[in-house]
Amino acid sequence: MRILITGARGQLGHALQQTLSGEDLILKDLPEFDLTQSDSESQIVAARPSVILHAGGYTNVDGAEREPDRALAVNAQGTSFVASAAAALNARLIYVSTDYVFDGTKATPYREEDVPHPINVYGQSKHEGEISALTGCSDTLVVRTAWLYGRAGNNFVKTIMRLASEKPFLEVVGDQRGCPTNADDLALVLKDLLTSDMRGICHVTNTGDCTWYEFAEAIVRLMDLSTPVRPITTAQAGRLARRPAYSVLAQGRLGTIRTLLPPWQDALSRFMRHAPRLASAPS
Ligand SMILES: NC(=O)c1ccc[n+]([C@@H]2O[C@H](COP(=O)([O-])OP(=O)(O)OC[C@H]3O[C@@H](n4cnc5c(N)ncnc54)[C@H](OP(=O)(O)O)[C@@H]3O)[C@@H](O)[C@H]2O)c1
Repeated sequence: MRILITGARGQLGHALQQTLSGEDLILKDLPEFDLTQSDSESQIVAARPSVILHAGGYTNVDGAEREPDRALAVNAQGTSFVASAAAALNARLIYVSTDYVFDGTKATPYREEDVPHPINVYGQSKHEGEISALTGCSDTLVVRTAWLYGRAGNNFVKTIMRLASEKPFLEVVGDQRGCPTNADDLALVLKDLLTSDMRGICHVTNTGDCTWYEFAEAIVRLMDLSTPVRPITTAQAGRLARRPAYSVLAQGRLGTIRTLLPPWQDALSRFMRHAPRLASAPS
């Protein structure tokens, strides 16, 4: 298998590189590989992968509201370039997407067959990317994940770790519920999915769910700090992009081919065991 990873320098890309370290890997990311440019397609074709793990994308949820054209160019148009390349090569395409394709109005976990209805530009751009991937290449699997954190890059866990040791107290949104997911765990599942014949859409997260407030409390507890964490509302947080109040993903399809990932609390505590190194690492 010759595996091409887009977004190779991102947090998931980094985890994929570790997990697939024994494989024949081709790594693509900015600046030399730009999903907004049509030559991204010819670059992939020239590399002749048999599988493409498309993890690259515009991931700044509030930023996408400020520069919607760029978010759409990267996530929607960029994914159609990747899908065309995959089709030309008869390659398998795995496109990493998001729980933010849903509007959050359900009260039970979103299933793969639920109809997306994004409420922000990022979610819309990823949803259009899903359509590009599924229509552009016949051997496509869209893997939706959520609330990702990994060793590379910035994420909620690293932010809370830093703030918990700097601030007298923290205020964190308590009315959005989702599934925190460790990038290393997701990379293990993606490795299995490379060689499976599953197509269409598959949801993959650590199991269980929580609010951002509960997630932050768990992080502070694992740091052995007593910094108080207080819940605030989404309205109080005043973020630019709307976010789904409830974006828990049901993992019906994954459960048919392998065991689900461990609970988010286990995954978080595994991640935090490396906390001293993470805290001092450049992000
Ligand atoms: N993070 C989450 O909570 C989350 C949740 C659900 C789904 N996802 C999805 O999971 C995937 C991986 O997420 P992640 O957290 O690993 O994201 P990430 O750390 O932001 O990595 C994305 C990578 O894509 C690169 N990229 C951005 N614009 C590009 C362009 N025009 N051409 C080529 N590469 C470009 C980024 O480069 P720069 O850093 O230089 O911009 C970065 O290296 C994404 O598709 C994301 O939508 C993420």
